[in-house]
Amino acid sequence: MAFPPSFIDELTARNPIEDVVGQYVTLKRSGANLFGLCPFHGEKTPSFSVAPDKGIYYCFGCHKGGGVINFMMEIEGLSYPDAVRALAKRVGMEVPEDEQYQSRYRQQERLWALSKEAARFFNRQLYLPPGAQGLAYAQKRGMPKSTLIRFGIGFAPNSWTSLCDAMREKGYTDQELKDSGLASVSQKNGRIYDRFRNRLMFPIIDVRGNVIGFGGRVMDDSKPKYLNSPETIIFNKRKNLFALNLAKKSKLDYLILVEGYMDAVALHQYGFDCAVASLGTALTEEHAALLSRYTENVVLIYDGDQAGQDATRRAIPMLERAGLQVKVLQMRDAKDPDEFLKKFGADRFRILLEESSNRVEYQLRAIAKKYDLHVDEDRVRFISEAAEFVSSLGNAVQREVYGTRAAEAAGISYEAMKIEVEKAYRRRLGREKKKQEKIDLSPAQKLQPKSRSIRYDNMKSAMAEEGIISMVLREPALLDEAQSLKPETFSSPLLGKVFSQLRERFSEGLEISVSGLADLEPEEMSHVAGILQRQRGPVSEQAFRDCVATVQAENQSSHIETVEDLMEFRNKMKERKGIRE
Ligand code: CTP
Ligand code: MN
Repeated sequence: MAFPPSFIDELTARNPIEDVVGQYVTLKRSGANLFGLCPFHGEKTPSFSVAPDKGIYYCFGCHKGGGVINFMMEIEGLSYPDAVRALAKRVGMEVPEDEQYQSRYRQQERLWALSKEAARFFNRQLYLPPGAQGLAYAQKRGMPKSTLIRFGIGFAPNSWTSLCDAMREKGYTDQELKDSGLASVSQKNGRIYDRFRNRLMFPIIDVRGNVIGFGGRVMDDSKPKYLNSPETIIFNKRKNLFALNLAKKSKLDYLILVEGYMDAVALHQYGFDCAVASLGTALTEEHAALLSRYTENVVLIYDGDQAGQDATRRAIPMLERAGLQVKVLQMRDAKDPDEFLKKFGADRFRILLEESSNRVEYQLRAIAKKYDLHVDEDRVRFISEAAEFVSSLGNAVQREVYGTRAAEAAGISYEAMKIEVEKAYRRRLGREKKKQEKIDLSPAQKLQPKSRSIRYDNMKSAMAEEGIISMVLREPALLDEAQSLKPETFSSPLLGKVFSQLRERFSEGLEISVSGLADLEPEEMSHVAGILQRQRGPVSEQAFRDCVATVQAENQSSHIETVEDLMEFRNKMKERKGIRE
């Protein structure tokens, strides 16, 4: 999908980056830049910068960056064309689109509208004769009317066609009903029928307020307990969380992540309006990133069974990688939060929340669980694994606190445990020292781009190439100085590609800006934004010419590495000069 470059230029001009970013991040001016807390990773001191003059953002902490379109893609989780669309809508611009894309977007809008209509239909049924059973079940599960309204809960009647009929009447086609996942197709006669029947319906709503799918619960013990919408062009289980549309407005400064729809609903009902649930799948990186847009603190509550423990262990590092502080709430005396709240009430739950341990405690307990501490051999193994873990903790106080905890669990003295921890600590230091030595041997390593996909092969040339790109972006007229410089001469394919695009735009009289760059992966874009934000020194023709000369010289010498190369090079030079032997 390619939009005309001139359209993109106007779009970016009319959406100043500081305005767009400012809608998500509180920015404070500092010189030519604006700074704020990075929305893409958790932080307490601002390392997220916006450069209005360059039209870019860049985070010195997590190294994400790019133009205003990249920002929209990243923050709203949109594809490139959807980000363009959103920005166009923001300033009331008409989008020239190719037909394929336009029809896909129209289709999405139709499915959103259909799903919302279906949610209304299901909700209405609760108060009509066919839904009496559903209402009774909801009441039996302790849901007052306010909860039913808040979540838009409904009921799918025990009929094969009532939803399809109602939606057809509203003008939706069979194809749309199929595409939305609300209807299935009969193998026998090819006709469509209601996918959800005789189930209590939970609409799944994304953070922008679109109904994107449903979870439907049976009202007895039959299977499957829940039926969910299939993946559709508007429903992606890996990227959405149940109730986040409500929880994102919570005044509480943490989010609670649970397994079940029922658990999330109950938590909201009892005042914990910051609860969200995954959609019957394991937590994904996308979920973690989504959560980190709304909070810095997550309380994980998974069931106490083995599956829940495994899920917890997998979720913790994923959430931490997204910059989140994770606490784990150990469910006691009830199988899940829903049951707990109904048995013991909100106050007792609040105590659980306050007690909820941090990840260190949780991990130590998880290690202890692997061993039978009444058996000597197991105790020995526990002590060594626990010592290894404790020795990895960042500060001495923590090592002492949790060392004591581990000693208690193993029934040995703290002194004995301390010796083990110190041994493990020294082993660790030794390992890290070796690693560090390796790194120190290659100082060029430090200048390597943060993303592995953009490694520099020739550091000297690459630094000059960065200089060229950064100067050209600030002073496009310098491109006149670089007539002889070919993109293939660049040692970094990425920077060569950027250079060639900038020169092409220059010759076509287009804006020279980061946002004008096409066909770059997000991390490539981030890398270019980083070059621009890290730039040192003013622009000068001399500096520019030096950079060009360096790139050309490095390119030549890099071709003369073997005797054969040298011969070939000499021959070429002779040919050029018209000399024959
Ligand atoms: N789930 C699912 N399909 C199933 C069973 C479960 O998609 N057949 C998902 C649902 O998202 C459900 C979650 O896994 O909410 C947790 O399952 P469970 O604990 O069994 O459900 P609860 O929400 O606790 O429902 P209830 O209290 O009514 O048993
Ligand atoms: Mn439950």
